[in-house]
Amino acid sequence: MLRTMLQAAARSDRLERMVGRNRLLRPAVDRFVAGASAEDVIRSARRLADDGLYATIDQLGEACRDARAAERTAREYVALLHRVADAGLADRVEVSVKLSALGSELDWALAEEQTRLICAAADEAGTTVTVDMEDSSTTEDTLRVLRALRRDHPRTGGVLQAMLRRTADDCRDLGEPGSRIRLCKGAYHEPAAVAVTAAADINAAYLRCLGLLMEGGAYPMVATHDPRLVAGAAALARKHGMGRDAWEYQMLFGVRADEQRRLAQAGHRVRVYLPYGPDWYRYTCRRLAERPANLVLLGRAMLSR
Ligand code: FDA
Repeated sequence: MLRTMLQAAARSDRLERMVGRNRLLRPAVDRFVAGASAEDVIRSARRLADDGLYATIDQLGEACRDARAAERTAREYVALLHRVADAGLADRVEVSVKLSALGSELDWALAEEQTRLICAAADEAGTTVTVDMEDSSTTEDTLRVLRALRRDHPRTGGVLQAMLRRTADDCRDLGEPGSRIRLCKGAYHEPAAVAVTAAADINAAYLRCLGLLMEGGAYPMVATHDPRLVAGAAALARKHGMGRDAWEYQMLFGVRADEQRRLAQAGHRVRVYLPYGPDWYRYTCRRLAERPANLVLLGRAMLSR
């Protein structure tokens, strides 16, 4: 119930205007967001690198309804990639992009064109781009754009959501050698017609899909904090004889940071999803929805201020 309300809050422009202006969610923002500026996020990425971790930087902002804003976002990503290269972090840091922040709600061709600019800058910097996945109404178009991008930029990563009923087929389709695929549970509220919703069913689907990606020879990016899936992924990798450079774990900034370091110290490649920027509202609501217990921590932090 609370989870559904928080997911609805993440979609509400009105609430974003109300809450975004005051400091109510500040403690949660500080926990899940690396800062407001490019300098902030590069500093965080360097700290992660010093701890043996990798990063994928996300410039917060989604559902842009203005072509000029989409172009501005792409330019900011290009500038960020220059900074990543200048900081000597290109072997540790890539970027994640949302097509809706690059104009897909206006025109998918515009979003593809803007993402191409970012992919070209990533090639030049010596790193990669991963295209995030949004709600299920966008899956087909997002995968179409991903395939088009990969013709010129083959290392472009994509995301599949284990909770969607279609994902096993997508894993068979995209699970080919060299294909960088982030597998996550799925962060959006989806109807039962397209998604399984029981936790046990999602976990079973996750491991089935991960097995398909491994069988196909893809480079799976295991994006989860769930201890059962973290252990299950390592077991599957052993079963498929995959070396530690043939796949990686991914976790969110601010979530299970100790586990991120433990896995890295055990020799795994661990990449932290590192969001930054002033448009933190929707991202923060989705993080709270994933674990409503975070609201208790948020309440305590607010009371102690
Ligand atoms: P689950 O939610 O069951 O959490 C397992 C445990 O992890 C919890 O018991 C808790 O200990 C901890 N935990 C998880 N979330 C937490 C939180 N917010 N705060 C505190 N503790 C928490 N989704 C999507 O639809 N499209 C995308 O492109 C992406 N991209 C993406 C990148 C990366 C790197 C990650 C890790 C995740 C995503 N996601 C995503 C989000 C994903 O779909 C999913 O919603 C979250 O990862 C939560 O699911 P878990 O697998 O972590 O399990």
